[in-house]
Amino acid sequence: MVFEEGSVRLDGAALLDGAAAWARGEAGSGDLRLRLDPALPPEGYELSTVPGHVEITGGSDAGIFYGLQTLRQLLPPAALRHPSSLTAGPVEVPILRISDAPRFAWRGVLLDVARHFMPVPDVLRFLDLAAFHKLNVLHLHLTDDQGWRIEVPGWPRLTSVGAWRTESMLGARVHERYDGRPHGGFYTTDDLRQIVAHAAQRHITVVPEVDMPGHMQAAIAAYPELGNGFTGPVRTAWGISSHVLNLEPSTLDFCRQVLDHVCDIFPSELIGIGGDECPTDEWPGGRELQARFTAEMAAHLAARGRRLYGWDEILAGGAPEGSVVAAWRGVEPAEVAVRAGHQVVACPDVKLYLDYRQSDDPAEPTPVGTLLTIEDVYAYEPPQSDLVLGAQANIWTEHMESLRRVEYMAYPRLCAFAEAVWGPAQRDFADFATRLPAHLARLDALGVNYRPLSGPRPWDARPDAPGNPRTLTDRLAELHEMTADLR
Ligand code: ACM
Repeated sequence: MVFEEGSVRLDGAALLDGAAAWARGEAGSGDLRLRLDPALPPEGYELSTVPGHVEITGGSDAGIFYGLQTLRQLLPPAALRHPSSLTAGPVEVPILRISDAPRFAWRGVLLDVARHFMPVPDVLRFLDLAAFHKLNVLHLHLTDDQGWRIEVPGWPRLTSVGAWRTESMLGARVHERYDGRPHGGFYTTDDLRQIVAHAAQRHITVVPEVDMPGHMQAAIAAYPELGNGFTGPVRTAWGISSHVLNLEPSTLDFCRQVLDHVCDIFPSELIGIGGDECPTDEWPGGRELQARFTAEMAAHLAARGRRLYGWDEILAGGAPEGSVVAAWRGVEPAEVAVRAGHQVVACPDVKLYLDYRQSDDPAEPTPVGTLLTIEDVYAYEPPQSDLVLGAQANIWTEHMESLRRVEYMAYPRLCAFAEAVWGPAQRDFADFATRLPAHLARLDALGVNYRPLSGPRPWDARPDAPGNPRTLTDRLAELHEMTADLR
């Protein structure tokens, strides 16, 4: 980025109109000039301001889009408010030239809408904010023991039964507290198509996940024939259910039907089948049964021109060829996946799980996991390999019952993550920290409920939902044990 002296005053309305015109398929004109240059990297762009206009050249529509996001950051924060405040008059734009392109192709964030359902407008807002930070993948975790959130034709009880639980745990599992309040919700096909379309307009791919063969208690509560004798309700406790799918041919058919429906809605080449944390107590055989199950699902997806996306547990017994691994159990599985020749998305829990606590302040809401500061997130680097597609920050929502709470946990750590996966490998947290307050002013204008740098506000605390903070030493020892079968 090259700054020159001074700034120019441009017509805010024309800047906005130019962006809208591009979305309609027309080149911008006047104060904002947009054009494609296929010689640039597909997601890259060049932005320059000269007296009288702003010019953005993109390697593709995505590049133009990212140039526009940068332009939004260059305008005064008020420009991020409702358009009427921008169109009120001319805005100041510094004179500069930027040539920019991302380092990683996969700049992802996972949102868990199974533990707590998020209404469609909340998901759209989440996408808007992710796109503003130039993230390009939403890994949407749609099903779990505690709730099934996707309507599937022919299986009405998945949503009439599986989408609802009688109450939720309050705080970490060790406290065994419950709130006594029903919770639920699900997405219709139209809801999901709307989410996919909204994401696509922002150059975000939604990678759906239906977790199988474990994390399936909600589906089994709806259809006990999928299980191994369990006839209970949707799980109300956090943690992992031991009630998993049986692997009968009819149950595999169910899984294929669900995946077919998922493929009909989501154009993503990668389709998530989870595969994490599947207890085998209910099965006559062991882990090798899961490897066979995963291979069946991979073959089914391949027949539809899709590829399987699964958690690093699928490496045990050999992940199917062409599958992509989401490496989460510490930093080691990403390296294991690369050695095994698989493409990988790095999302180690101790580096990128945004449900983990942001500080040791006792007022942090429901502190769980290891300490994960904004500096820690900024510092994370995936292993160096062409097989590493990028990285992903994961937001598990056991302790986030609303989008406000999600925003508190996500921001500003997700800003740090976004810069880590877009910007250069060599980076300086002190420099980032200097620039962050100006960015927080933008988040203020957008009304984001981010965690203040000074710490939680009194009303952020959740004394009713106590946490269970862990030390890194304990967690690393646990991860070492959990991943023993990968070594
Ligand atoms: C996971 O955190 N169970 C993927």
